[in-house]
Amino acid sequence: MRTGVERISVSLPKGLLKELDEVVKQVGYGSRSKAIHDAIRSLITEHRWLKEAKGRRVGAVIMIYNHSQRGLASRLIDIQHHFEDVICSTVHVHLDEENCMEIVAVRGEAERIRSLAEELRVLRGVKQLKVTIAE
Ligand code: NI
Repeated sequence: MRTGVERISVSLPKGLLKELDEVVKQVGYGSRSKAIHDAIRSLITEHRWLKEAKGRRVGAVIMIYNHSQRGLASRLIDIQHHFEDVICSTVHVHLDEENCMEIVAVRGEAERIRSLAEELRVLRGVKQLKVTIAE
């Protein structure tokens, strides 16, 4: 093992791993490691960038989730009500039998927008979440 490199073990759903392998193949990554390395780097960059945003901002939180995940729908509604001070509007799109997309338009303190995104991101059943804050 190279110095400064640590080996970790991660459990992933089979479907996600399959999708990852497709990306690895399509992009031409030599291995899963490099692809995962990039994904982690992009998560960290996004998080840092979001952490540095200050003051009043406008933006959108876009998420894809599995609506049949037990308790998720009501949890999402609870959280959104708790952040009614920054949420202007929510658009819900039924993607297929299982997945929904929600686009949450936000306006308010960057820190508040970040807290909202973080509370949503960690929920079980939320497959993808992107935050865009206009400069
Ligand atoms: Ni739906």
